[in-house]
Amino acid sequence: QASTIADDRVPDMEKRKLMNLLLLGALSLPSAGMLGPYATFFAPPGSGGDSGGTIAKDAIGNDVIASQWLKTHNPGDRTLTQGLKGDPTYLVVENDGTLATFGINAVCTHLGCVVPWNKAENKFLCPCHGSQYNYQGKVVRGPAPLSLALAHADVDDGKVLFVPWVETDFRTGDAPWWA
Ligand code: FES
Repeated sequence: QASTIADDRVPDMEKRKLMNLLLLGALSLPSAGMLGPYATFFAPPGSGGDSGGTIAKDAIGNDVIASQWLKTHNPGDRTLTQGLKGDPTYLVVENDGTLATFGINAVCTHLGCVVPWNKAENKFLCPCHGSQYNYQGKVVRGPAPLSLALAHADVDDGKVLFVPWVETDFRTGDAPWWA
């Protein structure tokens, strides 16, 4: 019955898309030179490979190259990329400077706001109704009923590839509610 609860909590796709657009728009620097990549960012997905995976895209729509990402993102960093189904997904740099093997879906499990990372608090804090998630996206304060969804973050041919996470949620020991 867990998935029934989840379905009820997930806002409709149009709303989510709109939020993604607003969020990613806010992350992109407005300059004429970026109009090209910015436009292609919203092209239909399809370059994601055969295995159900999707290559992570940065805020201006470029494929995320793992080695380059690590040069520009410090240990502990959590930065939004575009992940599976276009969902905003945090790419995590572990404290040892390696890329985490999981990405964290930024869509709040309460009513679907995109949840910002708060470095000072070492938590994800939802601005909409105050839900809190720890540094791995495990819910630590409601009203959110569930932890943030996970995706595998693999490196394929140098690029970061998100793959659906269907295994046990390592943060809770439970079956993944999102799968
Ligand atoms: Fe995040 Fe309500 S949508 S707390």
